[in-house]
Amino acid sequence: MDKSPIDFTLTLDGRTVEASPGETLLDIARRENTDVPVICYHELTTPNGLCRQCVVEVEGWRVLAPACVTQAAAGMVVHSASPRVLRARRTILEMLAASVDLREATDIQAQIRQYEADPARFIGAKKRGEPVKDDNPFYVRDYEKCIQCWRCVQACADDLQFTYALAIGGRGFESRITTFFEKPMPETTCVFCGNCVAVCPTGALKGKAEFLLEQGLNFDEIRSATRRPKRKRSNAETTE
Ligand code: SF4
Ligand code: FES
Repeated sequence: MDKSPIDFTLTLDGRTVEASPGETLLDIARRENTDVPVICYHELTTPNGLCRQCVVEVEGWRVLAPACVTQAAAGMVVHSASPRVLRARRTILEMLAASVDLREATDIQAQIRQYEADPARFIGAKKRGEPVKDDNPFYVRDYEKCIQCWRCVQACADDLQFTYALAIGGRGFESRITTFFEKPMPETTCVFCGNCVAVCPTGALKGKAEFLLEQGLNFDEIRSATRRPKRKRSNAETTE
C-alpha cells in the first residue's frame, strides 16, 4: 500500500513524529505504539468524541483534547499520559462505574485496573435502572449496562446497515438509546442484522440465546424461545 504523504511533524511525548493531513491524534498515537485508551470509539463507526476517555493534553490548549476526533496539526506538542490526562481518565471511569452496570464491559474493567480507578468513589450516585427489554427472538436490550457510546445507533444508521431503527431519546441523565416513538423492536425498521450487538462494548445488547443460557435455560428451551414452529405446508404445496 502506498504511504500517504507526510506534510508536517508534531511532538508526541517528547518525540518528533510525522503526520499527514486528516489524521487524528489517535491515528498518530496508534501508529507510534502510544497507549491512548478508547471507550466510545470503534473502527467501524463514526467517532463522536462522546466519552472523552481518549483525552490527551495539547500544550497551549485550555481543555484536554479527545484524540479520536482531534485533527493533528503542525507543531502541536502533545502529552498522552500527563498527570492531568491520567486524572481525567480515572475520573471518567469512576463516574461510569457509579451509574452503569459494567460487569460485562471487559475492556472498561481492564482500564479501571490500569488507571487504578476506584469504582466506589461516587458511591451515592444515581444508577441507571430499567428492566431488560426482551421484545424479539434475536436479542435483548439491557440499558442498565448502556454507556451511551452511540455505536449501536450509528451501526444501525449510516455507518453500516442504513436501517435507522435505533434513536437517542431524553435529555441529560434521562437521555437513553431507544427506538423511534419507543416502539417494540419488531414494530420498527429493524432487520435483526446483529450489527448493533456486535459493536456494543458492554453487554447492553446481547444475543437472545446467550441471554437465555445465562438465565439457566437448556438447549431445547432456548430453541423453542427463539424459533417459530415450522409452518405446515398445504396439500397444494406438497404436490407441486
Ligand atoms: S447499547 Fe451498547 S452500543 Fe448502544 S449506546 Fe449503549 S453501550 Fe453503546
Ligand atoms: S474514545 Fe474518544 S471520545 Fe470516546
